[in-house]
Amino acid sequence: MKQDLLSFANWTPEDTKALLDLAVTIKQNPAKYSQVLAGKSVAALFEKPSLRTRVSFDIGINKLGGHMVYLDVQGGKLAGREDNVDTAANLACWADAIVARVFSHSTLEDYAKAAKVPVINALCDKYHPCQGLADYLTMYEAFGKTEGLTMAYIGDGNNVTHSLLIVGALLGCNQVVVTPPGHEADPEIVAQAQAIAAKTGVKIVQSNDIDAAIGADVLYADTWLSMGDDTPLEAIKDKFMPYQVNEALMEKTGAKYVMHCQPAHRDLEITGSLIDSEQSLLMQEAENRMHAQNAILTKLLSS
Ligand code: CP
Ligand code: NVA
Repeated sequence: MKQDLLSFANWTPEDTKALLDLAVTIKQNPAKYSQVLAGKSVAALFEKPSLRTRVSFDIGINKLGGHMVYLDVQGGKLAGREDNVDTAANLACWADAIVARVFSHSTLEDYAKAAKVPVINALCDKYHPCQGLADYLTMYEAFGKTEGLTMAYIGDGNNVTHSLLIVGALLGCNQVVVTPPGHEADPEIVAQAQAIAAKTGVKIVQSNDIDAAIGADVLYADTWLSMGDDTPLEAIKDKFMPYQVNEALMEKTGAKYVMHCQPAHRDLEITGSLIDSEQSLLMQEAENRMHAQNAILTKLLSS
């Protein structure tokens, strides 16, 4: 039976660790995996802009011997022409997998239901699973493990927060989520992560107090306004500014590294100087998007 990757919430800790190990192996032995997608094609459909996801999938698929077709549906002529289920069923007539970045998670559920090939979530309103896996690959490389570490996410409770919570719970990484009041992570998704954490022994803390991040190994920032959120920056800036990830916060918390999924907004959610510092893992995360996704593709297209 085909397997989709919509969120990781239905994965086991063992399978997730095996996937992380596969990403490490593929990164270290690219030649060995250069033909795993030979003769295979992937349709990649984007309802929202992308730099990292689009390019890392395209080049990554090429490195595995496969071929990607990019479909731009950002307000273009493809949008709204037919039902989601029909789009996906048609794509599955030619493609061996569908990668999709969409506004609504329910679109991915429609695709997964209608397509006879794996559907991979390239970001939606609720999750960003490829980002989550790449980020724990990066932590694994930085610390030699993910178990027993603590990641403190600081900012808006969003799709990236949710995937960090779920993948972190699966890989044994404790989580602190610090948000301004009213911008907490989705309680239903926190409950999904808590259920996994109860089995893996992971501690999840949520707070509006930035001091909750003291003692974390890594601080993680993301944009204060996600794609599709039309709130003017000026309307939330004062509320979020005390949650900026900067050098003083790194020192106060004792965190060794800083992470950010990018695109980053210098001197808003993170200082530009911290992005450029020795403590920054941002470019390693970007590079690891490709290796993590290649592990996902290898797993879903060869099983
Ligand atoms: N981190 C990430 O998904 O970047 P893009 O939006 O550029 O793909
Ligand atoms: N939370 C951000 C992540 C971008 C990669 C967004 O959805 O815009």
